[in-house]
Amino acid sequence: MSILLLALLIASGIFTYQRQKEYIIRFAIDNARTFASQLIETREYMSSVVKGEPDNNYNLVPQVVATQVAKRVTQNSKFYVRQVSLRYRNPGNRPDSYESAQLKRFQQNPPREVYDLVNTDDTEIFRYMQPMLATASCLQCHGTYQSAPEFIKKRFPPGHYSYNYKVGEVIGAVSVSIPVKDLYAQLGTNFQLDLVARSIVFLVVLMVMGTIMNREIIKPVKALSETITRVTRTGNFEEKLPQSSRDEIGLLMGAFNDMMEELNRRTLQSKESDQRYRRFIEVAASAVITFLQDGRIVIANKKAEDLFGRSKQELLGASIFKLLEDGAALEEKLASGTGFSEEISDQTVLGLGGKPTKVEMVVSASKTDREPMFTAILRERNQG
Ligand code: HEC
Repeated sequence: MSILLLALLIASGIFTYQRQKEYIIRFAIDNARTFASQLIETREYMSSVVKGEPDNNYNLVPQVVATQVAKRVTQNSKFYVRQVSLRYRNPGNRPDSYESAQLKRFQQNPPREVYDLVNTDDTEIFRYMQPMLATASCLQCHGTYQSAPEFIKKRFPPGHYSYNYKVGEVIGAVSVSIPVKDLYAQLGTNFQLDLVARSIVFLVVLMVMGTIMNREIIKPVKALSETITRVTRTGNFEEKLPQSSRDEIGLLMGAFNDMMEELNRRTLQSKESDQRYRRFIEVAASAVITFLQDGRIVIANKKAEDLFGRSKQELLGASIFKLLEDGAALEEKLASGTGFSEEISDQTVLGLGGKPTKVEMVVSASKTDREPMFTAILRERNQG
């Protein structure tokens, strides 16, 4: 049960972790997309309104404005935003390996955006890129060398690869990145805390269930097995178990109690019939002796006492084979166990001091649940 619950806890932990991760990626994508779109709009606006101003103020170059805006917008976050191009003018805008790969892909068929989780050294980084396409206004400075403003011509000589873009061509991309662990911090989510809370709930459930199971199932079953062991040892069928519930365990207790009652009744019955038998042979006219296979006498009546000249105490436990002259033959017959018939045989009883008395004897066998028992009825010959 505990293992099952533990598995459940782990499964739900993994599930939550996955969900959280998914959620966090969504969050990152949304943020990155917003940054990128804002920058692209800012740049396009700048590009469409500048009329030679950057000649005197380099800070009004759309790229420079967008870079400054990005810096300010991301100031209080762990997001890092760049605008990169394979044919850069400013070495600061040189793409890294991931960015280069994406920019090359963009040249064929630019997607709306791309994002990935990239593993570097020891951290996992979320990366996002949105391509920038050249519009007509961009070509003021990114078109031919001849048409470019003076300050551009001065800085970037003819044949520089940052010229000669065409409208619709991918000129660069906004690149957003953030370490995944900073994303978690950014969102204020704490997976560990969540796990601890779950574990506490799990433990409480486990303890409550354990207590209930112990009280309702384990304890009663243990009591039952202990009682069975005790009853087997003592043979006392009067024990009863408390039947406290109406569920399966309660039914089991009830069934056990019924069984005990029945066993008790039968034991009493057999005790009674035993006593009846003893009373009966006591009044019999002949000597009656009951003995086991090994000859040991277990029951003897008054007439037997007279016949053998011994008291009951002396007879019980003594061997019948020793008290008959031809006891050895009887012993053999019983030991062989074959074809024991209830025939009348002549025997000579050895009374006290070896005084012989001739008798007729009938032996009948009966099988109790444990061992065979034999009952002998002996009658003095001269009685007729
Ligand atoms: C007024 C001239 C001018 C206009 C208009 C202009 N750019 Fe630029 N652009 C430049 C200069 C100058 C740089 C280098 C900035 C620096 O030093 O960081 C640059 C840099 C860039 C970069 C960064 C890569 C690099 O070369 O360092 C990209 C991407 C870019 N421009 C895209 C555009 C797009 C897209 C447009 C149109 C929406 C545009 N530019 C309009 C002058 C211009």
